[in-house]
Amino acid sequence: MSEGTGASDLTLMGLVHDLNNVFETISEAADIVSGDPEWAAVAAAILRSVDRGRRIVGRYADQSRTGPELEVVVDRAVTFLQDFLTHLTGVKVKVQRKVPAGLRLQGDSSDWERVFMNLFLNAAQAMRESGGGEIEVQSKLKDGAVEVRVSDNGPGIPEAILAKIFTARFSTRTKQAGLGLHIVHTIVRDNGGTVTAANRPEGTGAVFTITAPALVPE
Ligand SMILES: Nc1ncnc2c1ncn2[C@@H]1O[C@H](COP(=O)(O)OP(=O)(O)OP(=O)(O)O)[C@@H](O)[C@H]1O
Ligand SMILES: [Mg+2]
Repeated sequence: MSEGTGASDLTLMGLVHDLNNVFETISEAADIVSGDPEWAAVAAAILRSVDRGRRIVGRYADQSRTGPELEVVVDRAVTFLQDFLTHLTGVKVKVQRKVPAGLRLQGDSSDWERVFMNLFLNAAQAMRESGGGEIEVQSKLKDGAVEVRVSDNGPGIPEAILAKIFTARFSTRTKQAGLGLHIVHTIVRDNGGTVTAANRPEGTGAVFTITAPALVPE
């Protein structure tokens, strides 16, 4: 989505530097409280958020691009989902992963994390009324592209809105912005891929299919 920036851009370098100091302070504070059993889980969640922040900032500082590994990106998004769900009582979501090791995407790791975080959050929100459910992530390499399917066993997406869900500000949920899938679509498209939505042919639930160019090692 974003291009890296010239390391000569002093303003940006200064911003990266200052943000890293902020992250340092937060993680030191989290380290201190992590020794208290009552706060250990919260401290761990804070540290994971700081890690995410560092990765977002890191893409500006780090000019080397090897391409994110899908398995790692999905694992991080699952951790984010589980952190999010700890604040919602009575909702349990199990994530089944069938993601072969070694598949690499083109683009930025934190952008791809946002893609899966948004899809997982939507699935969890859709399954919330029934107390949760299961998300399945399946992936394979197909004709030089990575294909990833994210499905859930929630109510599915009404046919009447299927064509609109990737549009910015379209939402059926009160108090939500309707931006999640628009962000997904934009990131996937900017990385040369496509994303489609459908309903499961058997049972109920939504299925999102992403196809994006794989990173071919040089
Ligand atoms: N897994 C899903 N199951 C059922 N409906 C879904 C699913 N994912 C998305 N939708 C539908 O698509 C709409 C748009 O999703 P999108 O993520 O763009 O916005 P949102 O979740 O409503 O708001 P935001 O993501 O900004 O918090 C949702 O309001 C919902 O109606
Ligand atoms: Mg959403």
